[in-house]
Amino acid sequence: MAKPLQTRTLRATARNLAFLARRLRAGEIVAVPTETVYGLAGNALDPAACAKIFRAKGRPASDPLIVHLHSAAQLPQVCQPNSAALKLARRFWPGPLTLVLPKTAAVPGIVTAGRDSVAVRVPSHPVFRRLLKLTGVPLAAPSANRFGYISPTTARHVREGLGGKIRHILDGGAAQIGLESTILDLRDPRRPVLLRPGAITLADIRSVLPRVTESRRTARAAVTTAKSIGLVAPGLLARHYSPRTLVVLHAVIPLPRATSSDARDAWVFLRRPRIGKKTAPNIFWLDERGTLPGAARRLFATLRTIDAIKFRRIHVELAPDRGLGRAINDRLRRAAAR
Ligand code: TXA
Ligand code: MG
Repeated sequence: MAKPLQTRTLRATARNLAFLARRLRAGEIVAVPTETVYGLAGNALDPAACAKIFRAKGRPASDPLIVHLHSAAQLPQVCQPNSAALKLARRFWPGPLTLVLPKTAAVPGIVTAGRDSVAVRVPSHPVFRRLLKLTGVPLAAPSANRFGYISPTTARHVREGLGGKIRHILDGGAAQIGLESTILDLRDPRRPVLLRPGAITLADIRSVLPRVTESRRTARAAVTTAKSIGLVAPGLLARHYSPRTLVVLHAVIPLPRATSSDARDAWVFLRRPRIGKKTAPNIFWLDERGTLPGAARRLFATLRTIDAIKFRRIHVELAPDRGLGRAINDRLRRAAAR
């Protein structure tokens, strides 16, 4: 076991950003805010820096990283963009859309887990953008959580999971979107495939690329991974993308069922239920009015809070299966996968 590191959380002052840019250029890793979730960043062109990311997260080498750029003008450095990619870039970057494209020789195999494609995005978080600009290199960054647990949406979440494993966390406030980016496979521009739903919805992408299809792969992959992990190491399975507490999904939760239930069960509604002034310690909601952006923003933090209380089960109401609701439901299904 490596000796625990002292973990410092830094505010986004000009001085701290300049300091962290130097640390990144020197091959260190830094947890950074993005508009989606916090990331654990390192120089994407430096295999030793990327190895530190995998080590700190306990992430298997088979799971590739996303490369973050300050601007689409840097694309040719890391990948071979096609015209579909450039169209999407113009429309949605900076923002929560990740494109999978053929990689260049400059990208080390550790970033892509040996694949010949690389996932890239230009994030919109102003603090991360300043850091990317100052650092001047593409930054590889997966979500800044221990492998298998819920992605962090605040600097405090990062510290809870990676404190002692990394030296620096850059605090840029709570993530605005709260769910990981949409991932689109554009290796074959004639057959774009959505790999992970996110805040850029299928309809958004369709407005630029009418032929985009949705992959069953994400859902199937979650189940397959769960099964194979279950065989090799039972117990690991329960923590895959998920809280430690068992998650049970519901299309709708009838209010009386929740209010009359065993107090060891937690109930999570999409919107604040009509229970007047009295609230029970096992009743939660994602958004006061049930808006999808509000629910997405609060989802991971709410699951973390409830997980820490140690309920027997967490019952969660699914979102309507459209737009951002699809991304919310995708994360809920992963959290519930056993
Ligand atoms: O919003 C986000 O995407 C955040 C922030 C930090 O940018 N990052 C993130 O990374 O969520 P994470 O931990 O989900 O890991 C990246 C995922 C991999 O698990 C994999 O599914 C996909 O991106 N990915 C990366 N490279 C890929 C490739 N070459 N082909 C297919 N999928 C890839
Ligand atoms: Mg992740």
